[in-house]
Amino acid sequence: MVMWVFGYGSLIWKAGFEYEERLVGFIKGYRRVFYQGSTDHRGTPEYPGRTVTLESCQQEEVCWGVAYKVSGEEAEQIALTYLEVREKQYDVKAFVDLFTDPKDTTPAVSGVMVYIASPDKKLNRNYLGPASLEEMADQIVRAKGPSGPNRDYIFHLERALLQIGCEDKHIIDLANTVRKLLFERESPTVNC
Ligand code: SIN
Repeated sequence: MVMWVFGYGSLIWKAGFEYEERLVGFIKGYRRVFYQGSTDHRGTPEYPGRTVTLESCQQEEVCWGVAYKVSGEEAEQIALTYLEVREKQYDVKAFVDLFTDPKDTTPAVSGVMVYIASPDKKLNRNYLGPASLEEMADQIVRAKGPSGPNRDYIFHLERALLQIGCEDKHIIDLANTVRKLLFERESPTVNC
């Protein structure tokens, strides 16, 4: 028995379960967006943070990340049990094709599982949706939860994506706006 899981957020830098193989690759028809509210990891119910989810889009657009291969019934069960708790605010499990080379027309692996937080507020009450870069950055600067400050999540993600060779404009622009806000708010004012 073999299970593949695609990670496009924190799963890129922290799997948290045993795996046999890790492949850098992309899935088609989805874009990574900072539209999911987090009340259990990077925020609280009183002050939710923001984490990534996937938004469906044209097949020409792709989302880069990493896929983990888990083999054997026991390992799969352990990984799934762990993921179901960690990703419990993601209401959809989709099965997608993973590509590792933009020139390929056939997938490297099919049936790769991916957790998605849908925009359906009835099924996913934490969904926040789009906002201006400034609004999202302000929320990220202020929020923190049991897994740590929300700002660490975006900075980790930015670094992890660059490490796999992916320049994601949405993430870079938002991370830069978070840095700008932090600089403005946390640098001491000098009175002359
Ligand atoms: C993922 O990493 O694939 C899902 C989002 C997250 O847990 O940050």
